[in-house]
Amino acid sequence: MTIFENSKKINLCLVGMMGAGKSLIGRELSKIYNYKYYDSDKEIEINCKKNINDIFEDHGEEYFRAVEEEVCLNLLNKKGCVISLGGGSLNSLKIRNKISKNSFSIYIKVKTNILVNRLKNNTKRPLLKGVNMKSKLEELYKERKSFYNNSDLIIENNFDKKDILSKIKSNINI
Ligand code: S3P
Repeated sequence: MTIFENSKKINLCLVGMMGAGKSLIGRELSKIYNYKYYDSDKEIEINCKKNINDIFEDHGEEYFRAVEEEVCLNLLNKKGCVISLGGGSLNSLKIRNKISKNSFSIYIKVKTNILVNRLKNNTKRPLLKGVNMKSKLEELYKERKSFYNNSDLIIENNFDKKDILSKIKSNINI
């Protein structure tokens, strides 16, 4: 499938669990296709003038999700962009509908054990603070799996950047 098979697909967006490597791959794709790059978490931080941890701490998850929905919908309304979406953004039906209408979605898939390893020293994920990381990630994955699997392209991240980019490139012919 190429992105031009459906001319309504005006953006590329990367979905998947936190720690999957969406930002790194997204940035590389934006260079390859000469698309503008956006990261929904970065945009939320700019919008709220606070980092993600402080937003969760000061206002709670519900507030974060409301801002996330607004920010993601605005990003998805742009044209010719690569957008990395926060891991929980697909819980929003509005975001899912918007993606399926106008974006080519790529699910960056990583096994939970590997995510735990990648995230164990990371302090930037409020949902993983003070909890059993593996159980929490498993719980979140269970809730989100069907949304991720609905993506236009599913790529297993083997952390070989060249290989992943070439797999994506062979599926998207812009
Ligand atoms: C979250 C993922 C994070 C960030 C927030 C919540 C989630 O984004 O939006 O910490 O619910 O999975 P990344 O997927 O970019 O880490």
